[in-house]
Amino acid sequence: MKAVVYTRYGPPEVLRLADVTTPVPRDNEVLVRVRAVSLNGSDWETLRGTPLYSRIGGPFRPRHHILGSDIAGRVEATGRTATRFKPGEDVFADVLNRMGGFAQYLCVPESALAPLPAGLSYEQAAALPQAGAIALQGIRDKGRVQPGQKVLINGAGGGSGMYAVQLAKLAGAEVTGVDNAEKLEFVRSLGADHVIDYTREDFTRSGRAYDLVLDLAAHRSAFAYKGTLEPGGRYLYVGGSVATLLQALLLGPVIGRAERKKIRLLAVRLGVQRLAPLIELCQAGKITAVIDRRYPLSEVPAALRYLGEGHAKGKVIILVDLLLAGQATTERLAG
Ligand SMILES: NC(=O)c1ccc[n+]([C@@H]2O[C@H](COP(=O)([O-])OP(=O)(O)OC[C@H]3O[C@@H](n4cnc5c(N)ncnc54)[C@H](OP(=O)(O)O)[C@@H]3O)[C@@H](O)[C@H]2O)c1
Repeated sequence: MKAVVYTRYGPPEVLRLADVTTPVPRDNEVLVRVRAVSLNGSDWETLRGTPLYSRIGGPFRPRHHILGSDIAGRVEATGRTATRFKPGEDVFADVLNRMGGFAQYLCVPESALAPLPAGLSYEQAAALPQAGAIALQGIRDKGRVQPGQKVLINGAGGGSGMYAVQLAKLAGAEVTGVDNAEKLEFVRSLGADHVIDYTREDFTRSGRAYDLVLDLAAHRSAFAYKGTLEPGGRYLYVGGSVATLLQALLLGPVIGRAERKKIRLLAVRLGVQRLAPLIELCQAGKITAVIDRRYPLSEVPAALRYLGEGHAKGKVIILVDLLLAGQATTERLAG
């Protein structure tokens, strides 16, 4: 089969399209023919090997040689004890712990798979898992956003931010979205009431305070974040620098205590089974999975560069079958 592989951390140039052996499902696994796979910030981080947490399991060389975690496709074959799905069924999954989505086929434990939600296309389903889980848990489960609350989302124009802004608005919050200037119109179009260009303004120095700060790109000190919170407010670290992560873990529980401010790491519980509330909102047309661009498998390096260099608004999708048809160019598909 064709797959996009890499054997050392680096820029998108270390990736190459290769012929590799098609995997064979173990007893509890299902072989899925991948139709669509979405990019996440974590693919970019694990390609580059930075921040350091992206090297867990592979300090010097990548642990997995094929990236791509959020897949949708069709069951091709099943292992001996995998009985929940049959060949021909459409499914989707989050395989962040094993990766392998930038390929024509991959094996997934049947417990990680769910049927493709009714009414959603392969690309819409592939756009959901990781970004959707972050947003759902950040805004609802852990963020506990209430009507009228002030919510700031740092990194609002990316994959998770796109869902988080919409979920916070649905919850009745006043939403501020922070991202680079190129994405601010997009963030407004998602419903944000206010936008901030992070290259011009540091939201931790504005003097404004929020009930929830959901941080998808954290780079400042835990003390700076404490200053952005209303009494009783919470700051949730999702991704960013390791220094900030350690501060949130070690200092977070202590420094805001007097004013009932919570500074915490959001340890996202991944898995498509947890996405039901978000799927229902997508099916009802209340949340839109915004897809910025689509690329064929052979153009994974260009797609990752587009994301990593700060242009992607919402999700970027790889349509795996397009490699075979050999039809598409990025430009033709991008519209
Ligand atoms: N905590 C957990 O359990 C968990 C689980 C899975 C993933 N994650 C993490 O979640 C993070 C976000 O993922 P994602 O897929 O949503 O990423 P994404 O699509 O790349 O979105 C991140 C957004 O943040 C923006 N950004 C970058 N630097 C910024 C800054 N200094 N200030 C404000 N915005 C900035 C980016 O814009 P630019 O284009 O300007 O760079 C981009 O729009 C990743 O770091 C990933 O590792 C965490």
